[in-house]
Amino acid sequence: MKKGFIFDLDGVITDTAKYHFIAWRDLGTEIGVDVDLKFNEQLKGISRMDSLDRILAHGGKENDFTLDQKEALAAKKNTHYVELLQSLTPADLLPGVKEFLDQASTKGVPCAIASASKNAPFILEKLGVKDQFAGIVDPATLHKGKPDPEIFIKAAELLNIQPEEAVGFEDAQAGIDGIKACNMYAVGVLSGEPLHGADLTCHELTELNMDELLQK
Ligand code: G6P
Ligand code: MG
Repeated sequence: MKKGFIFDLDGVITDTAKYHFIAWRDLGTEIGVDVDLKFNEQLKGISRMDSLDRILAHGGKENDFTLDQKEALAAKKNTHYVELLQSLTPADLLPGVKEFLDQASTKGVPCAIASASKNAPFILEKLGVKDQFAGIVDPATLHKGKPDPEIFIKAAELLNIQPEEAVGFEDAQAGIDGIKACNMYAVGVLSGEPLHGADLTCHELTELNMDELLQK
């Protein structure tokens, strides 16, 4: 019997993945690295600085910038990303998310957010669902990013349950790997690329039966 739900944010609750892509692509153009949609898949679930490192390595520019310059580039990307987020409203919740959260609340099943995004509280506020989460892991407190399971273990702690008592929802391979590494039940939310190792996959949360999930 499962006792809590743990959600990734980008690509699961809302489609901010497209804004991350636009912001990285434009930064890439500025520094001469081609960030296309296929390469962008490798940035999903990966922290801001680690994403920049992957982009620089992709363009063979890993030794071209000092740490200060890299921090300035990451800050520039984030400023652009946050500009793109300003237009978010509750209408930007992915299909079935609001209904799923409401149903969880009715059943008394607590929910938490396990996202590498430092913008998560702001995004949840814009989407009008922040109060529906009993906990949001602060990624600044993490030692390792996904695919390390640390963020999912912390999210379970915030809900006062064991990782194996939770269901985790993820759209990124790094996230599915992190969920499985702490023996959590993994629901993969597909958006194009296949996800390996998920216990169950769906295209949107409307396809899921909560009672069946809680019995897993
Ligand atoms: C999520 C996204 C990543 C993003 C990371 C950090 O995991 O999938 O693409 O790089 O959050 O987001 P932030 O908003 O802190 O730059
Ligand atoms: Mg994601």
